[in-house]
Amino acid sequence: MTSTQPYPAAAAYGRLLDQANRHDPYPHFTELAQEPIQRLDENSWLVSRHADITALLRDPRLSSEDGAGPQGPPGSDGRPFRGPFLLVDPPHHNTLRDQTMHQFMPRIMGMGPRIEAMVARLLDRHAGTRPGELDIVTALAYPLPVGVICELLGVPEEEEPVFHSFAARLTRALDPVETLTAQEIAELQVTRAQWREYLMPMIARRRDRPGIDLVSGLLTEGDPATRMNTLELATTLGLLLIAGHETTVNLITNGTLALLRHPDVLDRLRADPDLAPAVVEEALRFDPPVQQTSRRTTADVRIAGEVVPAGSRVVFLLGAANRDPRRFADPDRFWPERPGNAHLAFGGGVHYCFGAALARMEGQAALSAIAARLTGPRLLADPPPYRTNMLLRGPAELRVAYDAVTR
Ligand code: HEM
Repeated sequence: MTSTQPYPAAAAYGRLLDQANRHDPYPHFTELAQEPIQRLDENSWLVSRHADITALLRDPRLSSEDGAGPQGPPGSDGRPFRGPFLLVDPPHHNTLRDQTMHQFMPRIMGMGPRIEAMVARLLDRHAGTRPGELDIVTALAYPLPVGVICELLGVPEEEEPVFHSFAARLTRALDPVETLTAQEIAELQVTRAQWREYLMPMIARRRDRPGIDLVSGLLTEGDPATRMNTLELATTLGLLLIAGHETTVNLITNGTLALLRHPDVLDRLRADPDLAPAVVEEALRFDPPVQQTSRRTTADVRIAGEVVPAGSRVVFLLGAANRDPRRFADPDRFWPERPGNAHLAFGGGVHYCFGAALARMEGQAALSAIAARLTGPRLLADPPPYRTNMLLRGPAELRVAYDAVTR
């Protein structure tokens, strides 16, 4: 086929990317999932089935690196710096991830009560007005993850708005490049430079006077021979901010939207707070905060009967896989009690979401509190307006009217 004759999947994928369809991409995922693999253009393929994506996320012939060759000054492995560890292959990926995990896990383990207290404080601000209305995004979904990440990194509360603003702007970098304008690409470059300028003095302060925070731990602990360098550290902090922020915002907002559209489930959660983990897993499956991810083949790879040549981009449609009827009974039903909910919202393989445990804690705390404390909640706009981001998809606002926010 020539470039004047686009591949058939290109039109359906175009509809998926179209902002007009952002509020409900699932009919378009279903359309794309009619075939297990489809060619999108000369160099890209779409894969949509649960079993194929699960296997391919674990296949070392699929790389997370862009393959563009040397990119920058040396990383701590002596090879040219290749970006955040989300975009680095093993073995260096594992070295960077393990160091970060070593600092991250012990700090989040005891954080449940702190997160519940943050949620309670945010909802308390609305407890006086009855009846009233609030926007779940600004009231809870945005401030909670940014507050949590700032606490983990030891960032003072007054600097949270700076983090918040960086998170919103840097996240756009994850979207398919075809959805970005030239101006947005230029703005992203400026934002990345500003982010490094903001972080470098903070890193220097921690290097001089280490504290008990995660940044100080990464700077001072472990084997100095393999310890990440300053550029890798700044990039890792950016990764934690981007990967951990907007995703969790979307989990809380998409989860609240699903609950308000399914009042029977909301009632069940209110009556039984132990249902919260299952509600969060189902929200992650039903309306995943990360809708797709991609890899590059480093060899010819046979996928669902097609040979995908080395050097191709393979896009995994997580939003389609999570509704694959071969894996999930009645996939379009929001059903927390469903058995065997092995969704792909957190990916899989070596890049399986680093912050899944934290995201679950935040999601469970937020959705439980909404169920327990908002009486008579009603959506004021359905569907709500959506942000432009395709990859990290979620409502721009979610306005809800209520009879009361109880204490
Ligand atoms: C509901 C919330 C979240 C969702 C849906 C989510 C989803 C994902 C997905 C799908 C991946 C794999 C991407 C790929 O393989 O290409 C990933 C990786 C990652 N996530 Fe999350 N994430 C969430 C929350 C968080 C949080 C709270 C953090 C950290 C504070 C975080 C940090 C990361 C990091 C660092 C990676 C890269 C892991 C690696 O390359 O080894 N995420 N996430």
